[in-house]
Amino acid sequence: MSAHETEKWIEKDRRQLHPTYHPSAHANPLVIERGEGVWLYTTDGQKILDGMAGLWNVNVGYGREELAQAAFDQMKELAYTSNFAGMTNLPSSLLAAKLAGYAYPGLNTTFFASGGSEANDSAFKTARYYWKRMGKPGKTKIIARKGAYHGVTMYATFATGIEKYHTMFGPAVEGFVHIPAPNPYRYEGEIQPGETVGQAAARALETAIQAEGPDTVAAFIAEPVMGVGGVIVPPDDYFPLIRQICDKYDVLFIADEVITGFGRTGEWFALRHWGVKPDILSFAKGITSGYAQLGGIQVSDAIRESIETAPADQSWMHGFTYSGHPMACAVALKNLEIMEREDYAGRARTLGQRLLEGLKTLEEFPFVGEVRGLGLICGVEIVSDKAARSADPALAMRIFKAAEKAGLRTRPLGSTLAFAPPIAINEDEVDEIVKRLGAAMDSVV
Ligand SMILES: Cc1ncc(COP(=O)(O)O)c(C=O)c1O
Repeated sequence: MSAHETEKWIEKDRRQLHPTYHPSAHANPLVIERGEGVWLYTTDGQKILDGMAGLWNVNVGYGREELAQAAFDQMKELAYTSNFAGMTNLPSSLLAAKLAGYAYPGLNTTFFASGGSEANDSAFKTARYYWKRMGKPGKTKIIARKGAYHGVTMYATFATGIEKYHTMFGPAVEGFVHIPAPNPYRYEGEIQPGETVGQAAARALETAIQAEGPDTVAAFIAEPVMGVGGVIVPPDDYFPLIRQICDKYDVLFIADEVITGFGRTGEWFALRHWGVKPDILSFAKGITSGYAQLGGIQVSDAIRESIETAPADQSWMHGFTYSGHPMACAVALKNLEIMEREDYAGRARTLGQRLLEGLKTLEEFPFVGEVRGLGLICGVEIVSDKAARSADPALAMRIFKAAEKAGLRTRPLGSTLAFAPPIAINEDEVDEIVKRLGAAMDSVV
């Protein structure tokens, strides 16, 4: 496509409101025409290494014909049917059966939505439902973390702990409380003498539950590795303590594994790194590698039981037109087959180690404060002063733009540049990320 044609295309695009829209962020959009493996091709001839796998989701990379075929076959057979109570379809039943016990033992029941925000709203509503069924209707509040990203539906927006997502959408939904995240590089809470960051951050949960009153708290939600909040990898002692505290106060633990599920961190699901199991799991993104819109929740047997044994006037009145969408579920089944066949947790572990080691060589730059990661999700923290660890989001933005010019897609998250490439990436392509980022950094000094 010529530059002129690309401009005409962008003109048509002006009728579209894009997510998190501001005209300054969309003045000169990349128009992506095609993808193959880890590479994106624009209409004006650029070839870009997608260091973010789209939005942390295109695990198997672009251009997988097997997935296109699975979608085609299912659409021909049955494009859609209602999945509301009283009806089902083959792919959603097969997928639910496959997912029983798949992530964590005891999570044997799945509800399907279309993405991560819907998954989290489903999780919050189900937590409230559960406590009502248990005779504790006062347990309605949700505790989340500062810096958390849980999506943009109304509940998910206010579970999200990033202020700019709230500013223009108040008044805030009541009942969402935020505590500091277990960020070892820059912990925002108070640390008592002798405490680790993990212990302090877990204590913050206990303090919040006590302050709100345990009889008012339904659930705690956390991303095992915080994504949008800046790729925060928690200390090893954090989640085991969180699990204990949730158990002590009868608070459900919701794991938002929308990014971390399906191999991304080098374990099939990320809480396995710490031997911890949630009561509700939110999933999306990687289940279809972005080839179809699918998310959902998995719930514990106790929660399932509460729904199963309810009188009719306490039915679980929740569900979407596209819950259990046949094509999306057929794509998910094929995608899981590919990721299992190609050992994606193992790939994310070894290639992630290579990426982390490569990125760590960039710590030589005076403005690289820290390089962190787990499996194939890494963050490079940009600072104006290494000793003071002072965040420099403006410089991170300049490096992001320079990287884009060098044919590398990353994502600036405040002062952190994020990397979560397709898990299909190979060793040379991992090295290419490091090389192109290094060149971008050279160009801004
Ligand atoms: C951890 C987490 N939860 C939820 C969401 C929301 O998912 P969606 O955009 O599919 O609604 C995201 C999206 O990036 C996410 O990163």
